[in-house]
Amino acid sequence: MQFFVDTADIAEIRDLAATGMVDGVTTNPSLILKSGRDIIEVTREICALVPGPVSAEVAATDAETMIAEGRALAAIAPNIAIKVPLTWDGLRACRTFADEGRMVNVTLCFSAAQALLAAKAGAAFISPFVGRLDDIGLDGMDLIADIRQIYDNYGFPTKILAASIRGVNHVRDAAKIGADVATVPPSVLRSLAHHPLTDKGLAQFVADWAKTGQKIDASKLGGGA
Ligand code: E4P
Repeated sequence: MQFFVDTADIAEIRDLAATGMVDGVTTNPSLILKSGRDIIEVTREICALVPGPVSAEVAATDAETMIAEGRALAAIAPNIAIKVPLTWDGLRACRTFADEGRMVNVTLCFSAAQALLAAKAGAAFISPFVGRLDDIGLDGMDLIADIRQIYDNYGFPTKILAASIRGVNHVRDAAKIGADVATVPPSVLRSLAHHPLTDKGLAQFVADWAKTGQKIDASKLGGGA
């Protein structure tokens, strides 16, 4: 499973990219607002930090303007994935971009039927929003499973990008189902490495090691090590 980080915060992206775990980045208008940055400038910086796909979302709701905006965003860097909403206008724009050989992420997907349309429109990624479905009492993971089955039935190459991820269990469950990518907020990516028994076990090892009085010292190896 690939991990994308769901943020436009440059400091967070730089920090997390250093772990080697960041395969791409997703942004949206709300994340651009939160960053306080100009979309072109911040997206250019993100693309320079992360070589994988960087999703940048159009702002328009009509196909014609979406296409103009998407081409402008795609000119920022070769690793831009143009993000369009799952509407008929968005699907029309997706088809146009796909025919131009551009990478498209179709976002705001809340049903398997929508995901089927995105695949037929040539999307590189479909973004089902798991957490927002859970918020209204549905099970977002059921949607991931339905899309996986449909895409596998027909051999669609569109990647399932599990979005609106709220915690470790979402990542685990999406991975079990076979989502290709999870886009996660920085806090969730960090939390993937945490387990209380890891902390407890490490504290014990550190304490016991100190009692040995030893050091791991390459100079003791001899033989030119
Ligand atoms: C996906 O690309 C979206 O940016 C994001 O996952 C939305 O998540 P939210 O529901 O936490 O806003």
